[in-house]
Amino acid sequence: MKDNAVSSDLSGKRILLVIGGGIAAFKSLDLIRRLRERGASVRAVLTKAGAEFVTPLSVSALTEDKVYTDLFSLTDEAEMGHIQLSRQADLVVVAPATADLIAKMAHGHANDLASTVLMATDKRVLIAPAMNVRMWDHKATQRNLTTLQGDGVLVAGPNEGAMACGEFGPGRMAEPLEIVTAIERAFAVSQPLSGKRAIVTSGPTHEPIDPVRFIGNRSSGKQGHAIAAALAGQGADVTLVTGPVALPDPAGVETVHVETAREMLAAVEAALPADIAVCAAAVADWRVADEADQKLKKEEGKTLPTLNLTENPDILKAVSRHPSKRPDLVVGFAAETEKVEEHAAAKRSRKGCDWILANDVSPQTGTFGGDRNAVTLISDTGSVPWPAADKADIANRLAAEISAHFAPGTDKSPLEVAE
Ligand code: C5P
Repeated sequence: MKDNAVSSDLSGKRILLVIGGGIAAFKSLDLIRRLRERGASVRAVLTKAGAEFVTPLSVSALTEDKVYTDLFSLTDEAEMGHIQLSRQADLVVVAPATADLIAKMAHGHANDLASTVLMATDKRVLIAPAMNVRMWDHKATQRNLTTLQGDGVLVAGPNEGAMACGEFGPGRMAEPLEIVTAIERAFAVSQPLSGKRAIVTSGPTHEPIDPVRFIGNRSSGKQGHAIAAALAGQGADVTLVTGPVALPDPAGVETVHVETAREMLAAVEAALPADIAVCAAAVADWRVADEADQKLKKEEGKTLPTLNLTENPDILKAVSRHPSKRPDLVVGFAAETEKVEEHAAAKRSRKGCDWILANDVSPQTGTFGGDRNAVTLISDTGSVPWPAADKADIANRLAAEISAHFAPGTDKSPLEVAE
């Protein structure tokens, strides 16, 4: 497959790496190695807390440079002032970005070398957050993150998983290679989708039964969010319309949060016109026709309530058949549990979209909620199965196919760009 979006060559790029104080700091040593393998030069600032986890000596051995640790060292200032340090870089990377560093950045504190450099820089900044799941979920952290994203700070991760403290959830620092990919994306010279507008739907919808209950499904939103991020990585101006999910808003994407299918349709319509629409949301097919204003009460001896369902709007169909603002390329998903290709192909013509990504969501595949996916791309020229891959890789591949579709002078068949 052509990967015309991201240059994997970082030669000549100067990275200033700020290593914060967290157990994930050991991964930053590998990150230095990976960056240098790709031709980048790395200069490191180690916070006082960071130095509790990795030694200046090991950082210096890997960067083959002096490690900067202290704001008030006269020698440091004489050799390289903190302003210069922050300017003589093409990108500043903070990994691990602790809750404290994120808070300092969001509020403009400058009371040590790391925070001073981050205040003084005129370069783009990418952070790889790492912290305990509760610290990550804390409103203050999420608020600070939103502030930073609004300031244009790029965010890589965090990942979900077991934590050093014994808890489980989001907060693990992204793996070194994932951070490298985010860095490469930040430097991507070719942005084939720049100037294109894309709308992506993601996550489930929640259809209220009464003020406290709803009908929902198990969609995690991972695939849709990854697609929004991948399209943004290729330069598209992306609006992500998402149902309720436990994921952070992707960096560089305008995210609209909705609950119901009708709200999702309204948000999608408000985001039109667009060149590209990718409907990855698992929209509830039905909603309760007579949603109760008050909580339905369980009363002894009373007959059980009956839920009358009515059909929800089909967003993919509405966009595909839009009378005046149909995007040039509309992509849908078909989650099937049997006869996957056959059902998906039928769905493609029924809905009127251009491409369908068919995936098998039978329980044994672990697709729903999992990190991996196996899809077949169905277009008017046939179907191409893609190897099972991480949802992020599927998203990148889809973004590359979409870029190829819009590339001037190329055959618009997705089969042409398949491996
Ligand atoms: O009909 P089904 O739900 O299987 O179709 C799946 C595709 O249609 C997905 O792309 C999904 O996002 C989209 N869809 C939609 N609105 C609905 C139902 C499905 O956009 N109400």
